[in-house]
Amino acid sequence: MANTSSSSQAKTSAASRIDNQVYKIFPNDLNAKKTVFGGLIMSMADRLAVVVAERHSGQTCVTASVDSWHFVAPAKENDTLLFSVSINKAWGSSMEIGVRVDAENSYAGTKRHIVSAYFTFVALDDDGKTVSVPEFLPETDREKQRFASAEIRRQARLAVREQLKKYK
Ligand SMILES: CC(C)(COP(=O)(O)OP(=O)(O)OC[C@H]1O[C@@H](n2cnc3c(N)ncnc32)[C@H](O)[C@@H]1OP(=O)(O)O)[C@@H](O)C(=O)NCCC(=O)NCCS
Repeated sequence: MANTSSSSQAKTSAASRIDNQVYKIFPNDLNAKKTVFGGLIMSMADRLAVVVAERHSGQTCVTASVDSWHFVAPAKENDTLLFSVSINKAWGSSMEIGVRVDAENSYAGTKRHIVSAYFTFVALDDDGKTVSVPEFLPETDREKQRFASAEIRRQARLAVREQLKKYK
């Protein structure tokens, strides 16, 4: 059971979201195939997602898990990465943060979807104990869809976690 947070007022996405954060690709970001090193994109996504979690919760947050990380297309030399990050749902001490990454060809003005993933962050107090986070209030239809699907993913995560306890 999480301790009670000092700021427990419900918040909307506007309080935390990050839209189209730009990262310009340079040659030292590429792998041997001249596409962008995937670990760079994962690291950037985690760094931005923790900011969204910390803005929402007002607490230090740690990454508990990441689901459904699939690179659906490569990012290439001369692309610019665009990261859009927002909270989907908050529970007791945990929050699901969705990340979408697009690769923009800035010369042509075209965009390709590279990856979408869902991070779960847990808020901790100064003693490192889990602490409750404010409720998230979805406003738009898209946010309401994400809010509903986040609950389905949480149930799946909890079920897997429960099953795996047998093997500890
Ligand atoms: C994340 C962590 C704090 C959870 O601790 P715990 O003792 O398992 O906590 P609890 O069982 O009380 O669960 C606390 C919350 O975390 C959630 N949680 C725990 N493990 C999870 C997982 N693998 N995936 C998603 N959520 C998880 C629980 O559902 C619960 O959420 P709720 O309060 O909203 O209901 C702990 O596992 C940890 O410190 N992990 C290492 C984190 C880390 O070092 N990350 C990388 C660097 S930032």
